[in-house]
Amino acid sequence: MCGIVAAASKTNVTDILMAGLKHLEYRGYDSAGIAILKNNVLNNYRQKGNVEELGKLLDATANSNIGIAHTRWATHGKPSKENAHPHIANDTIAIVHNGIIENYLDIKNKFLKNYKFLSDTDSEILAHLINHFSKDNEILDAVHLAMAEVQGSYALAVLDKNNPDKIIVARNGSPLLIGLGEEKNFIASDALALIEHTNRFVYLEDGDLATVSSEEVKIYDKNKKNIRRETKKSSLSLNSHSKDGYDHFMLKEIFEQPNAVKSTIENRIINNVVPKEILGPNAAEYLEKFKVVQIIACGTSYHAALVAKHWLERLAGIPCHAEIASEFRYRRHAVQKDTLLICISQSGETADTLSALREIKKEDYYVGTIAVCNVPESSLARECDSTLITHAGPEIGVASTKAFTTQLTALMLLVIVLGKRFEITPDLENSLCMQLKTLPDKIKSTLALDQKIAELAKIFSDKEHALFLGRGSHFPIAREGALKLKEISYIHAEAYAAGELKHGPLAIVDENMPVVAVAPNNVVLEKLKSNLEEVKARGGKLYIFADKKAGFKSDEISQVFEIDAPMNPVAPILFTIPLQLLAYHCAIIKGTNVDMPRNLAKSVTVE
Ligand code: G6P
Repeated sequence: MCGIVAAASKTNVTDILMAGLKHLEYRGYDSAGIAILKNNVLNNYRQKGNVEELGKLLDATANSNIGIAHTRWATHGKPSKENAHPHIANDTIAIVHNGIIENYLDIKNKFLKNYKFLSDTDSEILAHLINHFSKDNEILDAVHLAMAEVQGSYALAVLDKNNPDKIIVARNGSPLLIGLGEEKNFIASDALALIEHTNRFVYLEDGDLATVSSEEVKIYDKNKKNIRRETKKSSLSLNSHSKDGYDHFMLKEIFEQPNAVKSTIENRIINNVVPKEILGPNAAEYLEKFKVVQIIACGTSYHAALVAKHWLERLAGIPCHAEIASEFRYRRHAVQKDTLLICISQSGETADTLSALREIKKEDYYVGTIAVCNVPESSLARECDSTLITHAGPEIGVASTKAFTTQLTALMLLVIVLGKRFEITPDLENSLCMQLKTLPDKIKSTLALDQKIAELAKIFSDKEHALFLGRGSHFPIAREGALKLKEISYIHAEAYAAGELKHGPLAIVDENMPVVAVAPNNVVLEKLKSNLEEVKARGGKLYIFADKKAGFKSDEISQVFEIDAPMNPVAPILFTIPLQLLAYHCAIIKGTNVDMPRNLAKSVTVE
C-alpha cells in the first residue's frame, strides 16, 4: 500500500526513482509523483493514474542528483493529482508519506490554522508541520519535533530546499529501509524497488530517523541519539521483477507454485520428520507449554488460517481459534491461559495483523508468538518469537496465489511440529511428510487443467454472480476461490459451506447462477453430493472440481474437472489451483487489470 522511493547521488536520480516506482506500483497505483531539487528549486511532478502516466510529464530537463517519489493507494482524499504525493509546503519542504496520521485535524488546529492546504490528504500536514518547525530549527530537529506531535503510522521521506544534499527519513509503523550504494544511497518502502542498484539494506525501526546523502547515512533513535543498525544482504533477485515470458505476474506466480512449495519444504523434512528447529531457538519454551492455538490473519492469509484450524483440530487434536485480525483487535476476547499465537501474513506488514499482535503481546495469557510470513525482514517476522518463512519468493500480482499455497505448506509443517506433543504420532508424521513431498508434482499435474479452465471461463465471464461451495477444510478453499474471482474479474462471488445451502442461498440458485463446487474424496463426499443434487433440482449449473476417484460424471447440468488429489490432508492445496486459474481466465476475458485490480493493494499498511 503506497510505495516510497528516494535517492541521493552524484549523478542524475530520475531514472532510479521512476524504475523504483514501477517496481513498487503493485503496492498502490491510483496516482504517482516525484519531487526533485534543481537549481535550488523544488520541481514537483504529479499525476493521477499509474507510473506510466507520470512518466509522460518528465522530459530531459527533469534531472537532479536528489529526489523523492511515491505511488499512492488512496486513504484520505480521492485519487487525484492534488492528492498525489509529494506534498510541498512553502516551496521549501517536500514530503512523501505512507501510513495514516490519525490526529491530523488536531495538528491543523494546534499549529497550522493559517496555512492553506491544497489537498484532502492527512499527509499534507506533515509538510506544513515540518516547515513550521524548520523556521527555528535544523531540518533533522524539525522532523523530530514534527514526528513527536504525530499519532498514527508513517514512513516518511523529506526533501528540504535549504539542505540540498540530504534526504531526511522517519519511520513508525510503516516499513522503510535504506539501500547502500557507491557514491549514492537510496530509500524505499520495499527492497524490491532498489534491487537493481544494491543488495545491501539497513532496515529502520519504529521511532528511527535518518539522514541520507550520496556519501553518508546517519541513523538516530527516537531520542535523536546516533545509532547503528545492522546492514543486511538481500537474497532478492532481479528475476523477481520479470514476467518471465508470461502475460501477467499472476499467471507466472500460479505456475511457480510447484517450485515455491518445493522450496518451502526444502531442508525442513529430514527422513520424514519435521524437526522443531524449523521454528528457531525461541520455540523450546512455548512448545512445551502451550495448550491452545489462536490464529489471526487477513484476506487470503485468513483463508490459510481456516485450513490450519481444521488441520490442528483434526490431525493433532489441538484446540484452535482462527479470526480476522481487524475483528480480533477490537473486541474483548476470553483467552485461555497458555495460548500460542500464530500470525499469518505474506507481507508481514499488514497493519491489522501487526496491531493485533502488539495488543496481544501486552497480555500474559500467551506463551509465544509465531509469524508465518514470506518476508524475513518484515515487522511481523521481527516482532514474533519465531518465524516460519514461506519461500514463495516475491509475489507481485495483487491477488495472492503462490503466497497462499506456500502458507498452507508451511502451516502443515507447523501442525506437525506443534502436534507431536498431542496426537501426531510418528506414523502420522511420516505419512504427512510423504504427502507434502508429492505436492510439487501433483500441483504440476493440476496446472495441466489450464486450457480446459480457460474454456470454462468463456461461460463464466459474462455472469454477474457465482456461488462457491465446499465442506470441511475445503470450505476455506471455496472462500479463497470466490475471493480470487471477485478481486480480479469483479464478478460478485460468494462461498458457502455446502451444508448451509438449504438454509438460504438456495433461494438465489437458478439457471443463471453458476455454482462451483470443490469435491475432494473425503468423509463428507456423500453429503456434498446430496447438496449438489439440491442445486441440480433447481436448474443451477454446476462446475465441479472433483478428485478423480470421487465418482462425478459430467452431464447436461454439471461439468466435472478431475483432479488427482488423493484422499489426504494436503488436498486443499491442490484444489486451490484450478480456482486461481478460473479467476485469472475470467479476468482476461473481461479485460480487467489482472495484476493491479481496481481499488486494491498488495500490502495494506493502514488499519
Ligand atoms: C491485501 C492483499 C491480499 C492479502 C491481504 C493480507 O488485501 O491484497 O492479497 O491477502 O492484504 O495480506 P498479508 O500480507 O497480511 O497476507
